[in-house]
Amino acid sequence: MAEAPASAISLGPIGVFDSGYGGLTILRELRKSLPQYSYLYLGDNARAPYGSRSFEVVYRYTLEAVRELFARGCPLVILACNTASAKALRSIQQLDLPGIDASRRVLGVIRPTVEILGHVSSSGHVGVLATPGTVASHSYMIETVKLFPGMTVTEQDCPLWAAIVESSEADSDGADYFVKKRVDAIMARDPQIDTLVLGCTHYPLLIDKIRKYAPEGTRILEQGHLVAESLKYYLQRHPEMDCRLSKNGSVSYLTSENPEKFDSLASLFTNEPVHSHHCPLD
Ligand code: DGL
Repeated sequence: MAEAPASAISLGPIGVFDSGYGGLTILRELRKSLPQYSYLYLGDNARAPYGSRSFEVVYRYTLEAVRELFARGCPLVILACNTASAKALRSIQQLDLPGIDASRRVLGVIRPTVEILGHVSSSGHVGVLATPGTVASHSYMIETVKLFPGMTVTEQDCPLWAAIVESSEADSDGADYFVKKRVDAIMARDPQIDTLVLGCTHYPLLIDKIRKYAPEGTRILEQGHLVAESLKYYLQRHPEMDCRLSKNGSVSYLTSENPEKFDSLASLFTNEPVHSHHCPLD
């Protein structure tokens, strides 16, 4: 069937998906760098965290979320979640997208992060702090070595960190114990690490504590601005996608949990009031 002319295609927002609140750290940077676009955020808070779930479950949950965002008109979905990017992105792109709608796109957050690593580390030794699921996939190591064969990547799983953030405990004294434990562990495994990647979108909320326990001078790399720059460049190269995106600067929020609960914590990420709507996923 011949493709409809762009003018006949209804415009839609950029979908931004995460297991919970973490993707809001990506959305914040997207809105800063690309304020003219419209965004629809979906947090699967009812089933977060994803970090310790199996490949099959993360894939199924992520696919459900992508279908939901497509059904709500998003031509493009960003998996603002490393765990989902590591475990579901490739399968969705290669196996599902052609059958759902080959003209839509799903992009992840790992590749844009890895692309910068060779340019920011002087020692060539980087550490990745991530969920058990992301670490088990070795996506960071595999992708980094492809682009920068000489680099040494140490991946450290940080069980509970996402759960600490999801339960609003990021600033608590109790969180220090868990942060220190994992930062100490990764630095002991490779003392030459000069760059620590926050390989989970929840972790920017723990950045002060991570900085406190990392050796002085360690670069702590957040993903948000990297993903935003990468998307900007992608849209320049893909005008056929760009022309399908609505550009009225709006942002809407969906959560699979209770919206009032989502709003109160989400507003801490966004620094402005959030009014989400309930969106059951299954
Ligand atoms: N924020 C997600 C990530 O970037 C997932 C955290 C979780 O649900 O465990 O990996």
